[in-house]
Amino acid sequence: MKLLTQVLTDKVSAAFESCGYSAHLGQVTVSDRADLCQFQCNGSFAAAKLYKKAPAVIAKEIIEILSKDSDFSKVEFANPGFINLSLTDEALVRFVSQVMTDEHLGIPQAQSPQTILVDYGGPNVAKPLHIGHLRSAIIGESLKRLAKATGRNVISDVHLGDWGLQMGLVIAELEERNPGWPCFSADYDKNKDQLPSFTAEELNEIYPFASAKSKQDADFKAKAKSITAALQKGHPGYYALWEEIIRISTADMKRHYQRLNVDFDYWYGESDSEKYVDRLLEILKSKNLLEESEGALVVQVAEETDKNPCPPVIIKKSDDSNIYATTDLATIIQRQQDFAPQNYWYVVDNRQSLHFIQVFRCARKAELVPEDTTLEHLGFGTMNGSDGKPYKTRDGGVMQLGDFIQTVYEAAFERVGQSEFSDKEKQAEIAEKIAVATIKFGDLINHRAKDYIFDMDKFLASEGKTGSFLLYTIARINSILRKAEFDGFQPQDLAVFTDSDRDTALKIALSGEAFQMAFAERAPNYICENAYQIASAFSKFYHDNHILTEKDETKRRAWLSLCVSVKIMLEKHLDILGIEPVELM
Ligand code: ARG
Repeated sequence: MKLLTQVLTDKVSAAFESCGYSAHLGQVTVSDRADLCQFQCNGSFAAAKLYKKAPAVIAKEIIEILSKDSDFSKVEFANPGFINLSLTDEALVRFVSQVMTDEHLGIPQAQSPQTILVDYGGPNVAKPLHIGHLRSAIIGESLKRLAKATGRNVISDVHLGDWGLQMGLVIAELEERNPGWPCFSADYDKNKDQLPSFTAEELNEIYPFASAKSKQDADFKAKAKSITAALQKGHPGYYALWEEIIRISTADMKRHYQRLNVDFDYWYGESDSEKYVDRLLEILKSKNLLEESEGALVVQVAEETDKNPCPPVIIKKSDDSNIYATTDLATIIQRQQDFAPQNYWYVVDNRQSLHFIQVFRCARKAELVPEDTTLEHLGFGTMNGSDGKPYKTRDGGVMQLGDFIQTVYEAAFERVGQSEFSDKEKQAEIAEKIAVATIKFGDLINHRAKDYIFDMDKFLASEGKTGSFLLYTIARINSILRKAEFDGFQPQDLAVFTDSDRDTALKIALSGEAFQMAFAERAPNYICENAYQIASAFSKFYHDNHILTEKDETKRRAWLSLCVSVKIMLEKHLDILGIEPVELM
């Protein structure tokens, strides 16, 4: 269905046209002055320039026509040429009923079939998931859900970091600690020899240890490098061990992701691109793009207009190994072959922006994707601690994702414990959902490109722009509906009587705009903001009126229907944000 501002734009455009002006001047937006009117059109100013007339003259001509439209309760001139508009309550409520009956709840749908590949998460095998991976998971999951809700076909791929030097480091350290493992012997036989057993915790401990060691011990580093190369060439023992490391490590990752309601269609890794590297080299060669530079093979991607230097992309290092860019380029070949998406979305830290500029330029030069396929790096800022530096553990170490979620969970649990629920299990369940809502909403309310400070008290508060406030609003509505024993929701029963129910209805009516904006900018913060707007309008409505004790049955039904509409709409917002509501709180 059409957006409300579009419905109004159509009316005002028709008015401009009937006065002999161009229809495009009739653009209607939400009012900047909610105290004066609901909507406004500023087209008279552009018209004044085009048609050499005073804006006031034009605005008054348009107003004359719009005044005949019975959907408007207000069509007003404001100096020096604004057109202020408000809908009648009937027209507003009619629109809200249509939204509530629409199977997409008014979310604008894609006009043509389209496939988007979302590359997000990007954890690294055998390295503990750290806070830096949190934002990619949270934002990517939400963008994926948003794209689906707008009728797009979406494919998600975690793009596991499973192929670089970190694997060689871990294997080298495992070998030093357990030289007797059969996988390290020359005559290792996959069908006969057993694989050693170890845990994700052990791997998480080994990686930082091996990484630090490689910085001091050149022999160890050389060994890790040669293991990496051997692994990439298919050394049977290393390969079998590597597969086992992946199995253990991804099982651990999935546990964390599940806790955050994050999931992927594909768990491909950088290693899966290996079989496309030859094809990549062939293409680059055939297009004369490969150059030799200090023993390495590179592609020049600098452009004349570059303000900052853009170094060439290294495809093969001098030791013949593939690097990060190689795997990303080869992966594009795989994705074209398997999915041929129209859009690629890479939800990755802003700090990798140069990498993506290089990769995208190289992909374009090599024509790995059709010209009209978009390659988008949807970068994000850093989650900082109160000192403005990347969030750390109390003793200054790298915060692991599991520990972070657990810390927020414990704080949430403490608050739930102070409430009226005595049932410990129920408390834990609610605290878990509050914790996830706190983390996710606190992140997504910020435009993804910006850094933000994680502030536990502020983020957990039950008032303000927080996940708790939204969960609380829904729980409160559940309780009203229970007490009222109301179950027969009929969108046509909706009606408004006061300023606060009208405002609530208006906020619901404008949700489509928020979803549209979020999609256009690939930025879920618009959804968070709109959810907050609905919830806070509802909160005022709830405080200003006595819904449950209302004597007038039509009014009572209308208000309870508004409660249901708010609940359905908020749940839709939360679902797209990847946040689960709670029944009671
Ligand atoms: N594993 C990478 C990292 O931790 C992120 C991967 C992002 N995705 C991509 N296609 N490069 O930095």
